[in-house]
Amino acid sequence: MAPIHGGNLRYGTDYMNFHIMTLFPEMIDQGLSTSILGRARDNGLILFEAINIRDYSADLKHHKVDDYTYGGGAGMLMQAQPIYDCFKAIEAGINEKNSGSNADEIDVPGKRLRVIYVTPQGAVFNQEMAADFAKEEDLVFLCGHYEGVDERVLDEIVTDYVSIGDYVLTGGELPAMVMIDAISRLVPGVLNNDESAMTESFGNGLLEYPQYSRPEEWMGRKVPAILLSGDHKKVDEWRLEQSIERTKERRPDLYEKWLLENPPKPEKKKRRRKNTEGNL
Ligand code: ADE
Repeated sequence: MAPIHGGNLRYGTDYMNFHIMTLFPEMIDQGLSTSILGRARDNGLILFEAINIRDYSADLKHHKVDDYTYGGGAGMLMQAQPIYDCFKAIEAGINEKNSGSNADEIDVPGKRLRVIYVTPQGAVFNQEMAADFAKEEDLVFLCGHYEGVDERVLDEIVTDYVSIGDYVLTGGELPAMVMIDAISRLVPGVLNNDESAMTESFGNGLLEYPQYSRPEEWMGRKVPAILLSGDHKKVDEWRLEQSIERTKERRPDLYEKWLLENPPKPEKKKRRRKNTEGNL
């Protein structure tokens, strides 16, 4: 079945815009403004826009965004209206940007803006999903709080339900930032060395091999001699072996998956030579 969001299409530029709907925009601003992501933002490779859902409350006096749950139950629920209006404002901004003269491709048939609701009820996030999301030019995140969100607005706007693991956090901001970090580092130019995105853990379905820096000996522990040999072929072979061993030991689930995709090559049978008497 074709994905409803139009699969792998990009608008043709190597940058990404993240639009995060949240009740705590300052948390997002602080979390994403340092280190590699801060640099990528300063270089114009990624844009983060944390939008306060409260600004879209129809309650102009108290800016209320939550209410009691129908049917009873503890806690408050985020209401549909402020989230929907917030989303519509983001969508209008994206449409305006894409209708500008610099847009490479507009009106891509079947293209639907992906809206990720971060929730422990979603599919568990992994590297494959990060790579899939990294193909988009715009991604919208909805961060929930309190006891959850009115189901009707989720039905209306959400394309992807994603969790970061089987545990419950107090809100969606941290999971959204985890995902944004993993997706951003796949955007070309965000990492200094393009290669590092490929060779690190999961790039080839295996965990990364152990690495060492100076000194050659520390607390009686020596750097494996092969790494000092200067023989690049041998070093590569050793690293692959280590990756396989490490994955087998620490993540047997990943190892099994890798093994299915990389079955061991059958050993070539040695041809037996005829002996001098012509017998086999
Ligand atoms: N919100 C609360 N807990 C979460 C989780 N584990 N993943 C994604 N969103 C969440």
